[in-house]
Amino acid sequence: MAESMKGLHRSHRCTEVSSANIGEKVTVMGWVQKRRNLGSLIFVDLRDRSGILQIVFGEENVGVEGFEKAGTLRSEFVIAVEGTVAKRTAAVNENLKTGDIEIIATSLRVLAEAQTPPFAIEENSLTKEDIRLKYRYLDLRRPDIQSKLMMKSKVLGLMRAFMANEGFLEIETPILCKSTPEGARDYLVPSRVHQGNFYALPQSPQIFKQLLMVSGYDRYFQIARCFRDEDLRADRQPEFTQADMELSFVDIEDVLDVNERLLKYVWKEAIGVDIPTPFPRMPYHEAMDRYGSDKPDTRFGMELTDVSDVVKNCEFVVFKGALEAGGTVRGLNVEGQAGMPRKRIDKLVEFAKGYGAKGLAYVAINEDGTYKSSFAKFMTEEEMTALVAAMNGKPGDLLLFAADKKSLVYNVLGAIRLEMGKELGLIDENKWNFLWVTEFPLFEWSEEENRFMSMHHPFTMPMEEDLHLLDTDLGAVRSKAYDCVLNGTELGGGSVRIHQSDIQEKMFELLGFTKESAHNQFGFLLDAFSYGVPPHAGLAYGVDRMIMHLTGTDNIREVIAFPKVKDASCMMSKCPSEVDPKQLEELGIASVAPQEEDVE
Ligand code: AMO
Ligand code: AMP
Repeated sequence: MAESMKGLHRSHRCTEVSSANIGEKVTVMGWVQKRRNLGSLIFVDLRDRSGILQIVFGEENVGVEGFEKAGTLRSEFVIAVEGTVAKRTAAVNENLKTGDIEIIATSLRVLAEAQTPPFAIEENSLTKEDIRLKYRYLDLRRPDIQSKLMMKSKVLGLMRAFMANEGFLEIETPILCKSTPEGARDYLVPSRVHQGNFYALPQSPQIFKQLLMVSGYDRYFQIARCFRDEDLRADRQPEFTQADMELSFVDIEDVLDVNERLLKYVWKEAIGVDIPTPFPRMPYHEAMDRYGSDKPDTRFGMELTDVSDVVKNCEFVVFKGALEAGGTVRGLNVEGQAGMPRKRIDKLVEFAKGYGAKGLAYVAINEDGTYKSSFAKFMTEEEMTALVAAMNGKPGDLLLFAADKKSLVYNVLGAIRLEMGKELGLIDENKWNFLWVTEFPLFEWSEEENRFMSMHHPFTMPMEEDLHLLDTDLGAVRSKAYDCVLNGTELGGGSVRIHQSDIQEKMFELLGFTKESAHNQFGFLLDAFSYGVPPHAGLAYGVDRMIMHLTGTDNIREVIAFPKVKDASCMMSKCPSEVDPKQLEELGIASVAPQEEDVE
């Protein structure tokens, strides 16, 4: 029978009690981790979010009835214990914060009984994730998840404190809004009052934060929930949290400076790590050329080498064909891996094909200087020697080559580089390599749409020195956009915005907007800008990704209390779900979703 809290007050969390309290009376509450009966004594490990505390029940202290009650305790019962703090009589447990003390119980209340949970509440559970997510409220009791969420809470507090101290105002922006031009698909919310009309959930507060700059709030900050209906990956959720900011009267330097100090502060206060500032910076083109990625993991080398010039006259059709079609041939030197088994190389070729490559050519340089290669037979000896030299190939090295259009070659080799780096243990996991990637292209070519699109969003400022290219070479225009990259992941991104109406109009024109369509979509922003807009810039971090780094997990679901799974559903609450037909009727909506039996 569940007892009440009447007259009881918790005095400490489990691990707030220490040897400094020996002899004191305390009242602790929590869940039973485990009970052991040792004849005249019953030991209970009591757990709360702070950790574990040992309670000892003996008849002479807790009474006959209390002792009997203690004997009925099972895992996950919720109990309250009054007792006296004592030095441990048995062996000290070095693994516990409270390992040198115990509580001699003088009273016990069972606040709630519990069914046997479907999995043990313990660290590093081996239980399959879908079971854990179905019973997320139990999974959340596990200490490793709890410590991650506690870290998130701490970091949010640190960021708020830092930003407030720097003069940023925390201002909320709407969740029900008009769609923002961020590129992913919107989540739509139907309007009951305006039937046939929809709100969009924000992909980010982008437009609102720019409007706040127009309104004179000059430094804005928000911990903002964002919603994007896109394919999920290990570091992507349909709803996620941004630490979002915007600043007026600034240029790139000001934004990067305050952000370096923010990250330095957070890393120091959260995990005691000193990160050196300023962070290195790398233009987008250099990142792509050297690492095949706009978010390079600079914790190890194995950089890409462009060998197009070296092989341009060879007869190997794969190389020749790619170059004639305007593509490129680039390679990776996987040092010391000439002995890689053929099977593993074949797997790498398949891996490359997964990224769209037609193949992956290789040369293994034997210790005696001869080659084992998939294409040496198509090359002259001089050509091979020149190629190996260009790759800095030594006996024992494995050289891998991709030939195709540039973007594909970057993608393929960038991915293989990471794969090899991981597999060969080349990545120093203790490093915190922060990096600003800058000078992103303003536009990217969309094969699907057969036109140039914004790489970031249409309000991103071109670099002043490239403005003249807007009329001649769109693909070459660089922007004042920057990403904050940490150990090969994109932690955040932002840009200086366009505040000059002539440049903005030009951008819309180049992006294929008519005056009317631009006005339909962004009219209020353009109008606002006509009333005096300060130069402004901003940035947003993915908070969940930041916490992944700070807690050392590569699964974003571990740092979100109630996450969604790959198909964007919640395994616990079973959303999304059908709704009452009455609700649809009210909204003027009819669903054409296939009936259950039609779904394959
Ligand atoms: P961007 O789209 O680059 O920029 O987003 C900023 C950061 O948000 C994180 N992020 C995500 N995290 C988890 N799940 C997702 N689905 C997801 N999508 C993005 C990333 C990313 O770096 N308004 C602009 C910022 C600006 O220009 O100021 C924006 O939203 O860590
Ligand atoms: P093939 O003559 O098609 O058998 O190709 C010879 C070698 O070149 C094989 O090792 C292929 O994997 C490789 N190869 C094929 N296409 C490409 C490409 N686009 N880039 C790099 N290597 C390739």
